[in-house]
Amino acid sequence: MNIALNTQPNAPKGNVPKVLQSQEMEGGDFLSDVISGLRADRKSLPCKYLYDAAGSKIFEQICELKDYYLTRTEAHIFAENLPEIARTLGANVTLVEPGAGNCEKAEPLLSVMESPAAYIPIDISPEILHAAESRLQAALPSLPIQAVVGDFTAPITWEPNRLGNRRVIFFPGSTIGNFSCEQAERLLADFASWLSPGDGLLLGVDLVKDSVVLERAYHDDEHVTEAFNKNLLRRINRELNGNFDMDGFSHRAFYHPLRQRVEMHLVSLKSQQVTVAGVQFQFEEGETIHTENSHKYTQEGLTKLLARTGFTPCRHWTDNNNHFAIYYAEIT
Ligand code: AVI
Repeated sequence: MNIALNTQPNAPKGNVPKVLQSQEMEGGDFLSDVISGLRADRKSLPCKYLYDAAGSKIFEQICELKDYYLTRTEAHIFAENLPEIARTLGANVTLVEPGAGNCEKAEPLLSVMESPAAYIPIDISPEILHAAESRLQAALPSLPIQAVVGDFTAPITWEPNRLGNRRVIFFPGSTIGNFSCEQAERLLADFASWLSPGDGLLLGVDLVKDSVVLERAYHDDEHVTEAFNKNLLRRINRELNGNFDMDGFSHRAFYHPLRQRVEMHLVSLKSQQVTVAGVQFQFEEGETIHTENSHKYTQEGLTKLLARTGFTPCRHWTDNNNHFAIYYAEIT
């Protein structure tokens, strides 16, 4: 993806292009990813496919669950520390949010930041992005918004011209946790390449904690996470002419302490054959499809990751239980 942000230094507010369309939308092809994932010795599917319209709705329900502490805890840390976070970011800053979705988390922050220069939400879904942009523009009429439709994990080429004093990338929600360690390092290094010395990163990360708390968050009694996981099979059946038996698979989520991640799998409950787009796959009883990793960080591990990718942590905020952290780091 090659997005040219035609930003002028100190451009008047409101005088920025409204929408910059990515020239080339990347992202794997669903069918080929499913076929190669199910052909592998250890079957797996990329977690990005969990988020079709139904999956995104179920994820919203997950965020409301009593046991899914992540969303609530991050929101609490923001609510408790908003003025201080805004002061730390500084005045006349352009806030860039990769994977912004409905821009819900940025709005309270933008409304307390001192004269934000612009807000650049990036999201792969034009419908969600434009709806959010209209809502946000109505709430904050003087804020220049440049909505970018695109995949933030594909390389972005920024033009050197800049709006405001500094640029800060906002990446909340523990989204970083769904990337492997190598991918997370590459992503943060990519983010660093969008920035100049003095620019910053505001990052929400889920911390390592008691495995009981972690496993409850991904294996809730109300079976909402199970529905989220199994929706992937429903999606394959619907979009790729698959014939997964929904009762032939169960949801499993467990914490792997060495890998510091919660793994989500779908377990085959019997020996069975499944066909997707005319291609047959054999499942043994107990064999799993690995559908998601959710990495948890120690503060030490995160500091090292930030240092390896060019960032120096400046401040962080946590909750009383040390379950979640919001880090502010700068390029030095
Ligand atoms: C989006 N992401 C941060 C969630 C997580 O906790 O890793 C996705 C999720 N998967 C199951 N429950 C929530």
